[in-house]
Amino acid sequence: MTSVREIFDSMAYGPAPESNAEALAWISAHQGRFGHWINGAFTTPGRMFDSRNPATGHVLATVSQGTAEDVGKAVAAARAAQGKWAQMGGAARARVLYALARLVQKHARLFAVLESMDSGKPIREARDIDLPLVARHFYYHAGLAQLLDSEQPGFAPLGVCAAVIPWNFPLLMLAWKVAPALAAGNTVVLKPAEYTPLTALFFAEISREAGLPKGVLNIVTGDGDTGAALVAHPDVNKIAFTGSTTVGAKIRTATAGSGKALTLELGGKSPYIVFDDADIDSAVEGLVDAIWFNGGQVCCAGSRLLVQEGIAERFHAKLKRRMDGLRIGDPLDKCIDVGAIVDPVQLATIRGMVEGSEGNVYHAACAVPEGCYYPPTLITGLNSASRLMQEEIFGPVLVSMTFRTPAEAVELANDSRYGLAASIWTENVNLALDMAPKVKAGVIWVNATNLFDAAAAFGGVRESGFGREGGWEGLMAYLRPVTKAKALVAPKAVPAPAEPVIEGIDRTAKLYIGGKQARPDGGYAQAIWSPKGKLLGHVGLGNRKDIRNAVEAAHAAKGWGRATGHNRAQILYYMGENLSARAAEFAARIKDETGRDGGAEVEASINRLFTYAAWADKYDGAVKQVPMRAVALAMNEPVGVIGALCPDEAPLLGFVSVMAPAIAMGNSCVLVPSQSAPLSATDFYQVLDTSDLPGGVVNIVTGAHQELAKPLAGHLDVDAVWSFSSTSLSAMIETEAAGNLKRSWVNHGRSRDWFGAAGEGREFLRHATEIKTIWVPYGE
Ligand code: NAI
Repeated sequence: MTSVREIFDSMAYGPAPESNAEALAWISAHQGRFGHWINGAFTTPGRMFDSRNPATGHVLATVSQGTAEDVGKAVAAARAAQGKWAQMGGAARARVLYALARLVQKHARLFAVLESMDSGKPIREARDIDLPLVARHFYYHAGLAQLLDSEQPGFAPLGVCAAVIPWNFPLLMLAWKVAPALAAGNTVVLKPAEYTPLTALFFAEISREAGLPKGVLNIVTGDGDTGAALVAHPDVNKIAFTGSTTVGAKIRTATAGSGKALTLELGGKSPYIVFDDADIDSAVEGLVDAIWFNGGQVCCAGSRLLVQEGIAERFHAKLKRRMDGLRIGDPLDKCIDVGAIVDPVQLATIRGMVEGSEGNVYHAACAVPEGCYYPPTLITGLNSASRLMQEEIFGPVLVSMTFRTPAEAVELANDSRYGLAASIWTENVNLALDMAPKVKAGVIWVNATNLFDAAAAFGGVRESGFGREGGWEGLMAYLRPVTKAKALVAPKAVPAPAEPVIEGIDRTAKLYIGGKQARPDGGYAQAIWSPKGKLLGHVGLGNRKDIRNAVEAAHAAKGWGRATGHNRAQILYYMGENLSARAAEFAARIKDETGRDGGAEVEASINRLFTYAAWADKYDGAVKQVPMRAVALAMNEPVGVIGALCPDEAPLLGFVSVMAPAIAMGNSCVLVPSQSAPLSATDFYQVLDTSDLPGGVVNIVTGAHQELAKPLAGHLDVDAVWSFSSTSLSAMIETEAAGNLKRSWVNHGRSRDWFGAAGEGREFLRHATEIKTIWVPYGE
């Protein structure tokens, strides 16, 4: 036996195992076999697969492999329950969510142990991080449900939501999907990851105790095939997915054109930037939480260290010393820092990636047990293009590079296809807050890492996916406006008349790229005829090359995003003024193109420009009420380059209604005007030229929507694509958008009242912005 003296000499931690008796008793009570949870009860187990404890390799339980038929039953139960659940009202749903929060707290210990055994994560993390966040999520969303009816009138739930989640935070990801979906009045079918189904099944069981009506929450276990069947089910209205970018892209493609709402929270390779004036000890300690939290199996792990050159050597030395002190082993031991890797398959992937690295690999000198464990690892000597600097490893492996200046740090940080999170370490708050908007990510932590809260939005940009979870903004992703939109009828193209009326000098409107008129690459133009047979002019027929040029010009104009809201407002007012000066001419053009009197449309367009001029400096962010000593700023940032196909129903007003919110929020854009009546938009060139708008902020490519939509939606440098076209393009656009997981907003063949409330306002502003959450902890 070790003597007290020896313990004092070594100061080694003794074992502090958490008891697994209660969790094992729960599994035994079910004979270790689980069916799905459908309509408030477990089904008879069907074809089974094992769920193992990665720390021991032992089978914990066997669970059912969900078939398409099981998915069908679960969706049917959710559909049947949805109407009543929504009609209960927000306040009644709030009571149930509150009860769920309470029950999560009451059963926190069992949940934490079960989670640790099923996933391999240290009990300390499950107990102190996952479970408190889960409870907080349900409490917070009980509050949102309570306030929903009064705060968001005019919105209704989407219907049946499918949730597909990963294995790294099984219960927390359940909470992130289930709490907002239920608060908003939806019902849910959730598919947990195949490695970690158990806490979801226990949660289902306690939901009965919370008074959740049958069918409101259904759990179908299984692998990717079960997930694919759920995503493909025609009666699902929304899909909320967290997992790999590859599967996210598959889901985008599989649902294209279906009208199902979609949010994707995908992978990352988040930079961890340390400046030479940082508190180095804190930054080293922060890294332990950034990359060794949950063994690095975290989508927003700070897996890419960027350290300023002058301190790099010292920093790496301190880091290695700290790594050597990490304790790796039995996840149920309360003294353990790093637990097991979720599955041998994942372990083999990590090994393979590290072995193939060209860098200098340092494995922590800590004892690593036999089995599904991987040592904390640091790799230096890489360059930004190295595979391991670019690809997500999803294990306890940190890659590191140095930088010299803040500008270089930004450049390296943004040299990634991902954009989930970033940490910035410096004692200079001005530098940190200058860096935060420049780094492309959905979440920024200043002198901190991995801070989460239900009130603060979480989610990514670029190939880290789209949509936010948490806060009101997260809830909005589970609601739809109640306006009834009619099917869109494409205006008939006016054919060349038998006896054309040709007056005056021929005018061919060119394209408008980079603030200048440009000839279409193909050299073709199209005649535009009035319904009365008058030749109104010609417009250029743009092609793929023109779209590419326009996107390039839009990129070059990205400085617009840094202009102040006040400046952007001034330019929008100026446009309104210039349009007003030429109101009669624009009204006559609309009459010629459509046969309708154009006066009201011009007036509405001027008004719309004024509306977005007003919004330009008033679509404020927020400071979130997070339960810690920190400010969490929610900043509305521009999306980047927006490509949009404008509507045919209102050639001028539709064009203005799409352009104005985009540029008011600091985006640059490539617009394809109405196909049947493009001349109102080409006449608008002169309004743009005389309103001091920098070249490239608005680019206009006329031509066939069918032809231009594909290169626009598929372009890798376009960040979002919108379509209000009366050509049926929604499916194609959403399929093309999967390439770089850009955001898409399409009409699915539905019309919009451009003159009414649906033609402007917050819905447009939401689509024209990305929310970035910037966390700044404070205190000594
Ligand atoms: P995955 O993306 O394959 O799995 C996530 C969930 O999607 C699971 O529930 C899975 O069953 C389901 N799924 C798989 N294929 C599907 C399909 N075609 N349709 C619908 N659902 C489907 O992630 P996996 O294989 O577990 O991990 C692979 C890699 O993904 C990891 O090494 C890591 O790089 C990344 N990953 C990222 C996560 C994140 O939080 N961003 C979480 C988990 C994994």
